[in-house]
Amino acid sequence: MIKDYMTHDHRECDNLYAPLESAISEENWDRALELYMPFKNAMLKHFAMEEEVLFPKMEEFMGGGEGPIHVMKMEHNQIRSIIDQLGEAINEKNTQKALGLGETFMILTQQHNMKEEQVLYTMAEQLPFDKEALLEEMKKVEA
Ligand SMILES: [Fe+2]
Ligand SMILES: [Fe+2]
Repeated sequence: MIKDYMTHDHRECDNLYAPLESAISEENWDRALELYMPFKNAMLKHFAMEEEVLFPKMEEFMGGGEGPIHVMKMEHNQIRSIIDQLGEAINEKNTQKALGLGETFMILTQQHNMKEEQVLYTMAEQLPFDKEALLEEMKKVEA
């Protein structure tokens, strides 16, 4: 099921972020640098699975334009920008900036994920296409 797989992937991304936040709080910059790339890559891969495979398929049935998928893509751009800025803050060893960006990241991502889990993925499950085949295609996406 797309909904279960992607909801689980949201949790996996959260689990990569949590130790990064701890490392920043502890000003353990070596550890923060080590944890940043796997976290960023997991987020980018998740977004790419949605933007390159899931959303285009949904748009075949729902149309493009200014609907909920458009909103999700704008939020991805916002979150990607925050992730990049967080990387800069870690490179600068700027604790306050990194913690602030981390908090913004968490708030935006939790709100975004909730909308997908409660609305978007449920819509996807109800559309008449082969969900298992699409999920396999999604798993092949490279970040
Ligand atoms: Fe998303
Ligand atoms: Fe998602």
